[in-house]
Amino acid sequence: MSEVPQLTEEKYNRIISSYEKKTQKSKKIYEEAKKYASLGVHHYLVWHRPYPFFVKKAQGSRVFDVDGNEYVDLVMTMGLGILGHNPPKVREKTVKVIEEYGPHPGLCTELAVEWAKKVNKLFPSCDKIKAVNSGTEATMLAVRLARAYTGRNKIVKFQGHYHGWNDVLFYDVFAAGSGTIFSKGIPENHWENIMTVPPNDMDSLENAIKENEIAAVIMEPLGQTTGGSPFKYGFQKEVRELTKENDILLIFDEVVTGFRVALGGAQKILGIRPDITIFGKGVGGGFPIGAVGGNDNIMGMLGVMDPKSDRYGPHYVISAGTFCANPIAMAAGIATMEELEKGDYIKNANLRAEELAQRLKEVGEDLEVNFSANNVYSVIHFGPKRETSGPAITDAAQKLAARLRRGLDELEFNQMIRPALLLNNPGVVILPSHGYTSGVHTKEDIYNVISAFENCLRIYKE
Ligand SMILES: Cc1ncc(COP(=O)(O)O)c(C=O)c1O
Repeated sequence: MSEVPQLTEEKYNRIISSYEKKTQKSKKIYEEAKKYASLGVHHYLVWHRPYPFFVKKAQGSRVFDVDGNEYVDLVMTMGLGILGHNPPKVREKTVKVIEEYGPHPGLCTELAVEWAKKVNKLFPSCDKIKAVNSGTEATMLAVRLARAYTGRNKIVKFQGHYHGWNDVLFYDVFAAGSGTIFSKGIPENHWENIMTVPPNDMDSLENAIKENEIAAVIMEPLGQTTGGSPFKYGFQKEVRELTKENDILLIFDEVVTGFRVALGGAQKILGIRPDITIFGKGVGGGFPIGAVGGNDNIMGMLGVMDPKSDRYGPHYVISAGTFCANPIAMAAGIATMEELEKGDYIKNANLRAEELAQRLKEVGEDLEVNFSANNVYSVIHFGPKRETSGPAITDAAQKLAARLRRGLDELEFNQMIRPALLLNNPGVVILPSHGYTSGVHTKEDIYNVISAFENCLRIYKE
């Protein structure tokens, strides 16, 4: 039972027409949106067939659309929302900041000091932290720092791992639910300095390191899409040892994991001290942010505009950004860290995800549909089971072709299941092949999600 489940055209049309009936206002707005934004959406992952609904209100674990429909939300701002939507403490703190400063004075605030101090306390590997405006920017800066510090250019990343959409690292990425993707518009010679190796393949990594002058190895520390394709036990530690022995920097991209899997991120769970850590999402409590942290020597590569300074000139790294350390993100980040320290949000989110994954797996088995689910902390991964038997493919080009083919099948599955899940009352909104629970999702939410999946998978069986 390894084939990706398919829907007949009749069933598919039925789902789409029910969704359209339920979301008439959204449909109208979408027609307007398409006139002004390519695809009508501003993030390619939120688009689904036939069009996404438009949100009127978000609160806790739920979102409400312009037609008055309610949904249990497992998108959770692309994994950011560990406190749920619109958490009161974050709201109070940020409203106060807006009253005092407006959006951003573009100068120094004490809030930025308090914020960095808090990050440093939770992440001892980061003597110093520099705020930027998105995870994408942060990965760019991390690579620039690594190159400047080591004097080498090449970076090794793991196949499938996502580190933002910048030119620097958007290469051989696994877009959840759609398989491997590349983007047009990046010159091919750009990749001369980026190498990818398969996860869990120590020989390939060793060879890459032996044959090249490597500045850094970068990884999502719990594997692609936080465990969509996990590392085998102990692999990250081996990478840490190998990089250390060879004087190569290890970069952990903790954009998702930093404030979701543990306060202190994946590095705390794994007991590994990376040289550079990349932050995003939760560190700004829901406002646009990214950040890079590392030890004093690496972060000391950041230069200043003062000719008398010993950190001036072409040997130092420049990183700017109009909105860096804006007080709204700083205040929201502080409030989020305080809330996480006080409450059981991470534990609750993990528990809910565990319950959900277990039940979804059982639903697939009971209905005898090729569907399964698992969780890695508060991240749910779901979809058709992967083929584990069959001849092993050794040729790299064939391997890539197989990954692309499989991706297409999964994408089709996701594009069908997502509108179907929205039909329940409440509906369920989720990303392709994965979703996130928050610390405020309730048992009732989880029940609703199971029931939506069950109804949806039953359509395949009818
Ligand atoms: C692991 C990882 N790194 C980097 C990024 C990019 O962050 P941003 O969307 O803030 O640019 C993401 C975003 O989802 C991510 O999951």
